[in-house]
Amino acid sequence: MITYNVKNNGLIELSDTFETLFIKFYDSESFRIFSKEHKSFAVLKEEKAYKKYEISKENDALQIKTSKLCLEFDNGFNIKITYLNEIIYEGAIEFNSKFEVEDLSLKEKEGHKSFSNSDYKFIFRSKLNKEDNFYGLGDKTGFLNKKYYQFYNYNTDDPSVQLENMPALYKSINLFYNLRKNACFAVFLDNTFKSIFDFGRDLDDYYFGSIDGEIDVRFYFKKDIRDCVTRVTKVLGRHDVPALKVLGNHQSRWSYYDKDYVERVIEGYNRYDIPLDVVHLDIDYMNGYRDFTIDENKFPDFKNWIKKLNDETGVGIVTIIDSGVKKDPGYKVYDEGVENKFFATHNGEIYVNEVWPGESVFPNFVDKNVRKWWGNHCEELKETGIVGIWNDMNEPASFKGPLPDDVEFVSENNEKYLHKEIHNVYGHLMSEATYEGLSRKNERPFVITRACYAGTNRYSSVWTGDNHSIYAHLQLSIPQLLNLGMSGFAFCGTDIGGFSANCTKELLIRWIEAGFMSPLLRNHSALGTKSQEPYSFDEETAKIYKKFVDLRYKFLPYLYDCFYEHYLTGQPVLKPLLLNYQNDEKTYNINDQYLVGDNMMICPIVDQGKTSRTVYLPKGKWVNFFTKEVYKGEKTYMFDVNLDETLIFIKYNSIIPTFKYFNRIQNDYNHIEFNLYGKKATYVNYKDDYKTLNYKKGEFNKIIVKISEKNREIFSSNKNLKVYDNIDIIDVLGN
Ligand code: GLC
Repeated sequence: MITYNVKNNGLIELSDTFETLFIKFYDSESFRIFSKEHKSFAVLKEEKAYKKYEISKENDALQIKTSKLCLEFDNGFNIKITYLNEIIYEGAIEFNSKFEVEDLSLKEKEGHKSFSNSDYKFIFRSKLNKEDNFYGLGDKTGFLNKKYYQFYNYNTDDPSVQLENMPALYKSINLFYNLRKNACFAVFLDNTFKSIFDFGRDLDDYYFGSIDGEIDVRFYFKKDIRDCVTRVTKVLGRHDVPALKVLGNHQSRWSYYDKDYVERVIEGYNRYDIPLDVVHLDIDYMNGYRDFTIDENKFPDFKNWIKKLNDETGVGIVTIIDSGVKKDPGYKVYDEGVENKFFATHNGEIYVNEVWPGESVFPNFVDKNVRKWWGNHCEELKETGIVGIWNDMNEPASFKGPLPDDVEFVSENNEKYLHKEIHNVYGHLMSEATYEGLSRKNERPFVITRACYAGTNRYSSVWTGDNHSIYAHLQLSIPQLLNLGMSGFAFCGTDIGGFSANCTKELLIRWIEAGFMSPLLRNHSALGTKSQEPYSFDEETAKIYKKFVDLRYKFLPYLYDCFYEHYLTGQPVLKPLLLNYQNDEKTYNINDQYLVGDNMMICPIVDQGKTSRTVYLPKGKWVNFFTKEVYKGEKTYMFDVNLDETLIFIKYNSIIPTFKYFNRIQNDYNHIEFNLYGKKATYVNYKDDYKTLNYKKGEFNKIIVKISEKNREIFSSNKNLKVYDNIDIIDVLGN
């Protein structure tokens, strides 16, 4: 039997014989169900309780109603949720559940490592309905729709091939959406311990829960999935508008180990006139893999060299930083950390494991003072003129087995946390420290991280870690980026060409064609693999690569507008079709087409040898970007797609802004073209200084273009701020 008690602060306390839980509404469409207040690493600001609900009790069943939601509890914590008069969730909250989900004994007998079954401290389970579809959860493997799949969230650095049955990757983003045609909801499980999400793989129900910690689950209901994304990103945060430079082309490799190598890469790019804005330095630029040091033999006079590169070639440098600090008395960062008790401990001693530098220790990022200290080092490194910092191995990865569960992290208020609770937020806190350190000057910080928790997107861009140079991973890159976007991580990318194994010419071409509008565009490859820069294959590869990188630079004002939209509304830059066409169930399982913003759709080839494909065009009319032919939507078409082609469709009656001249971002981006596809459209182009934080103080302009069949108007929101030297309107279809 369940009893309730309404508290003065608006919370509803629910108890059955064994458990007590609290319900807190945030508005008529969202609530939180939790066992105890605890520190949230993800939630930006706890919202006030909403008190417009009514409670009634009939026999043993308890009903709590807002104008849109009805929560019913009976027989302990059986729970039924009705939203806009439709039952949308029907199941139970179970405590101390043991799920024998998979027999792993054979695998273990053969000596294979596996994610063992666990006892779950709590599980939320619900009946799985035919209409349910699942998205989100960050960078998980497999298809766009996660229905019938199971995953764990425990940040994992596992170099094996990431296929759809791999349960955990580098990020733990405990956020998913249940989408139906008429309604949807987001669930955020704010619990940093290892968690499970099973969307109907093993049972007729779907369920999620954690092995330890507090119950803390937020539900956000909306009719339109886009509103759901906006609502959730209001809680977990959004990425700032990035500097235009970092939206340019990045080239990386493990490793461009000295300055001559970097210069050769830039020369290679210049030889084929392929735009390049950023080169990444992997671990070998450091002195013995010591964070915040530079190997002066390989990179003499680093600061001046960076300046020279910038002045002469326009290319900026991003440097990697790993979370493991070399255990090395006499090395400044280690000594400072030891002196100030800044490292995680085990049984009273500084905990040591092994990473690239050999024996390494792990900064206790839970402590604000440690984050500040780390931020100081980031700020100092930034002063060499680098563009930003790439955070790696921050799951944290460790070569001598995982960190024991009971490694200790202590907060600035002396609260003790064990590794099993901190593991999933370690990369999050490292990114927070880096972001803070790089934000102290009036320049937009650029951070890229591998490990994340929900909300890390407000500090950092992300990449999907060590993929392989295989077609399966080219295919995977699309649903991965789309689900990351749905999870708030708009600024995301995969290693173009694949990280592990040798890439082939055709694979690299197909990858750049599929990914040239990736929010983060970076080609990266592993030590020992074949060179993967676009000029490392043949003339044809370099030319095709150039064609698509050129196109990206042309579309930069559009991409920038998409980022601004994300900043304002949380909508991703790359969008699965279902986000904009929820009414059309045909879009729910499209894995190889995606939208960039609202007006552009890309349909690449992601199979070896293939030179044609089908495309589903959703509602409306669509213009083939290359041929200018117009097609009717809600139909499937077949297209030929040669090796040097990808399919791009532009929504009929829309505008795409492009830069007339481009190459390096430092160049004069002062000539904008508003390309009209169709007869009428309205477009708002966002413009600021592309690099400082002044836009947060209101220093930006909006150029509004309104084209009707009779009238063409262009005006700006802030007459006092300069916009472009030249603005053209181009009638692409020649009306
Ligand atoms: C990790 C990173 C990879 C990097 C390598 C060496 O595997 O994921 O991107 O190149 O470490 O630092």
